[in-house]
Amino acid sequence: MTILDGKKISNDIKDEITEQVKKMKAKGEKVPHLAAIIVGNDGASLTYVASKVRACERVGFESTMVRLSNTTSEIELLDKIEELNQDSNIDGFIIQLPLPPQINTQKVLMAVNPDKDVDGFHPMNFGKMALDMSTFIPATPFGILELLDRYGVETKGKHTVVIGRSHIVGRPMSILMGRKGFPGNSTVTLTHSHTKNITQITSQADIIITALGQPNYLKAEMVKDDVVVIDVGITRVPDENAPKGYVITGDVDFENVSKKASFITPVPGGVGPMTIAMLLKNTLLARERHLQ
Ligand code: GUN
Repeated sequence: MTILDGKKISNDIKDEITEQVKKMKAKGEKVPHLAAIIVGNDGASLTYVASKVRACERVGFESTMVRLSNTTSEIELLDKIEELNQDSNIDGFIIQLPLPPQINTQKVLMAVNPDKDVDGFHPMNFGKMALDMSTFIPATPFGILELLDRYGVETKGKHTVVIGRSHIVGRPMSILMGRKGFPGNSTVTLTHSHTKNITQITSQADIIITALGQPNYLKAEMVKDDVVVIDVGITRVPDENAPKGYVITGDVDFENVSKKASFITPVPGGVGPMTIAMLLKNTLLARERHLQ
């Protein structure tokens, strides 16, 4: 069994990006600049955005964090987005999700200039992805592809089962794994809350990608020998013995499933750090596009 070490690979990618930034600086070019808008005070979202800003500093990018209150109206947020769309200093930006209930998420995501949409959530970019056109691929799916690629995990002709159809992970992942090319060329089954007999499906899977947010959902009895398991779950489970009062728990019963798996991602240290590295990669791509 091989651990797909997202922490190590993400550090490799950040080192590669750092080198590219140094070259940009040496040529006197402006370095990539990522902005992140966060609305409200959700603890997990604040932690993610802080990690994204720290990652920018590490690779030599500029970063801007825009904090808006929980009571921000949709119009105020749309105004802020327009400001960032117009700001030639900013190459790419993200709006951390989820947003408070008074704000229509789809409307907001559609207001982002697709050329600055480094999360790849705008329908134009999502559509381009589905049509095999060059575009920003959402960071978490992009990170999973990169992990599979760097570990040389075969995906061609395999049966990939995706659990969960979120717009951020499950849906794009199901499209990407079925695309022509590598990683891709899989036969894909997308399962969700209305899927019947899920164990019958997962036990036939060569590759399982879980993005459910249900701790320890995938059990050893649900998988076959030599399965490849990608765990996208990151749920904070209360634990009074843990320093922070919670532990980050994945969707997979790692202890038992890992005994049957050929490759498996840990949580933490698997997909999570890859997401941030690929957001940086998308930001670099946005900068390079703006230079052309
Ligand atoms: N919330 C959970 N994952 C993500 C992500 O990849 N991007 C943004 N903007 N928000 C998220």
